[in-house]
Amino acid sequence: MAHDHFRDRIPGTPRFKEKDKKKPLGTEPFFPNFLLKEWIVGSLFLVAFILWIIFNPVHLTDVADPNPSGFIPMPDWYFLFLYQLLKYFPGDMVWMGTVVIPGIASGLLILAPWLDNSKARHPFKRPVATTAMVLTLLLMIWMTYEAEVQHEDALANAPKPVDKSDMPTDTAIVDEGDAGAAVFKQSCAGCHGQDMKGAVGPYLLGVGNKYDAAQLEEVITKGFPPGMPPGGGLSDKEKIKEVAAWLSKQKQK
Ligand code: HEC
Repeated sequence: MAHDHFRDRIPGTPRFKEKDKKKPLGTEPFFPNFLLKEWIVGSLFLVAFILWIIFNPVHLTDVADPNPSGFIPMPDWYFLFLYQLLKYFPGDMVWMGTVVIPGIASGLLILAPWLDNSKARHPFKRPVATTAMVLTLLLMIWMTYEAEVQHEDALANAPKPVDKSDMPTDTAIVDEGDAGAAVFKQSCAGCHGQDMKGAVGPYLLGVGNKYDAAQLEEVITKGFPPGMPPGGGLSDKEKIKEVAAWLSKQKQK
């Protein structure tokens, strides 16, 4: 019998299988037949994914620094357009960028099937919907690009972190109750740190090894424009003398 079937077949058409007749379309049991197929496909993807990360491992970067200088936080790329939107509504208006505009946009997207109920499917036959979508996409791409450019700019202009590789490990501050210590706290610590370990300006621990009192007076009076104003912001010569004398005692072994 099977032989007859074979001969009746029109060349080039799929062979009719007797068992297919008993199984009309859409009657395959969900469990276990269909689910099994799903699981097989799922496991294949999982194995492929595992292999992918084994051969392309993601390496950890620097240890997180709770007190970073010059770190500018930035969201992942797919949120950059929203991040950029916030910049157009600074301060008190930020709710426009966080709630109102994204709310209106996603509301319109949800309502799109009711707002645009045209039967036509070709994009050119639905000019309003197509134009709105293209414009929105272009705007998102442009804002993403703009956010990236502004971030690069900010990074390039950020103050460089202070190099502390040579900072003395014996970090005690020499303080014999000099008047200069108080001057330092008030006028210099903002940039050089209360602990003298540096902030915007370099660390000054052990600066007495580098300059004597007279040299310090000169260095401070001149300043380091633009990083440090002349006198470190002090115009009182007496105070500069005091702080210079105190700094010259900051010697480390
Ligand atoms: C606005 C920030 C700022 C203030 C305020 C400031 N400094 Fe500075 N200071 C700097 C910066 C930045 C540098 C390094 C500039 C450079 O190397 O280009 C510096 C450099 C120095 C140096 C040279 C350090 C070295 O290793 O060569 C000394 C000494 C110094 N400051 C002392 C002082 C004193 C004393 C005061 C307070 C009277 C003071 N600074 C106030 C920012 C500041």
